[in-house]
Amino acid sequence: DHPTRRDFLFVATGAAAAVGAAATVWPLVAQMNPDAATIAAGAPIEVDLTPIAEGQDIKVFWRGKPIYISHRTKKQIQEAQSVALSSLPDPQPDSARVKAGHDQWLVVIGICTHLGCIPIAHEGNYDGFFCPCHGSQYDSSGRIRQGPAPANLAVPPYAFLSDTKIQIG
Ligand code: FES
Repeated sequence: DHPTRRDFLFVATGAAAAVGAAATVWPLVAQMNPDAATIAAGAPIEVDLTPIAEGQDIKVFWRGKPIYISHRTKKQIQEAQSVALSSLPDPQPDSARVKAGHDQWLVVIGICTHLGCIPIAHEGNYDGFFCPCHGSQYDSSGRIRQGPAPANLAVPPYAFLSDTKIQIG
């Protein structure tokens, strides 16, 4: 069922708090990166994963898009791997959405595939992402499980430079 307006306002406040939390990580990230104009033009960015504790998510921006980086718990990984593909609206195995040997890290573009709102991490029924606009629910692999969104959250191009650093773009 749809969140009421009151619920939406509550959820929106939660989102602002999440942005605030991500911002505390940002200065560490920013000093390694090209300046804002270069990034906006599409340059790759490097992100140090060390400050992201297990169970936490951060949001960074690449090409003007919010990118969620989730340090998944064992439980989240297990949930993501054990779901029957036939039950998924947009069937994709978890292994196709994370990098081999780094399956504790999920990197997705934080734009709902329904109408483009920014879903909230660690909300909803599937231990993944919840979109407050019309209630789409994504799982811990960023796959759509419930609600009007037609497709999984997109995975941006990225690569591991080391066990603790990725380059997006
Ligand atoms: Fe996310 Fe509609 S924009 S559910």
